[in-house]
Amino acid sequence: FASGEFDGLTVVVTAGPTWEAIDPVRGLTNRSSGKMGYAVATAAMEAGAKVTLISGPTALPDPERVRTLRVESTQEMHDAVHTHIVDADIFIGVAAVADYRPVRAADGKIKKTLEKMTLELERTPDILASVAARKPAPFTVGFAAETENLEQHARQKLEAKKLDLVAANRVGADIGFGTDENSLLLVEPGAVTELPMQPKAKLARALIRHIATRYRAKHTA
Ligand code: C5P
Repeated sequence: FASGEFDGLTVVVTAGPTWEAIDPVRGLTNRSSGKMGYAVATAAMEAGAKVTLISGPTALPDPERVRTLRVESTQEMHDAVHTHIVDADIFIGVAAVADYRPVRAADGKIKKTLEKMTLELERTPDILASVAARKPAPFTVGFAAETENLEQHARQKLEAKKLDLVAANRVGADIGFGTDENSLLLVEPGAVTELPMQPKAKLARALIRHIATRYRAKHTA
């Protein structure tokens, strides 16, 4: 085990989708399986880090030797992240967070009495941007799932959210969500690195090695 690249470091990872309640039995979510985030958490642990994984609802078991906290909504994920990020060195936001949530959730199950109904939605808090805005901020890594113009959209995200690195992956009909393989384009200020298509566990280890190099460079300047 321990290759030691992350020895002594504390890492917080988010994974999975979020669930935004409409009523007690219905909600808004997405097709994120959590596989990539769990693989990243495991790879960080194997590299020697103390890892906290904050996960939305997934069908996956808690990774071994990773402290795993389960949450449902974006707000809960946001609050859990800020509770556990305090002494963390690195934050990796892999979760496919809902961008919008119902303005209010009904207390009881909504009955089908209406012919048409409108669901009013509001923006959710941006967890990643709020972590990058902390003083001091951990080394902050975001993910970007895009269908087109991968590098351009990732770079916009990097700058808008003031991140250290964005790991961008192509999503489409049968790539990205739920699959066991993926590829990543690592976008940083002044650099772009391609990690080719490979199993998510292997890809996660390559990502962690890359982050370790950049983290060390930033903190031994
Ligand atoms: O802007 P976009 O949602 O595409 O950015 C994706 C990245 O931002 C992912 O790393 C995701 O975990 C994070 N994110 C977040 N909170 C949100 C929305 C996205 O942390 N509300």
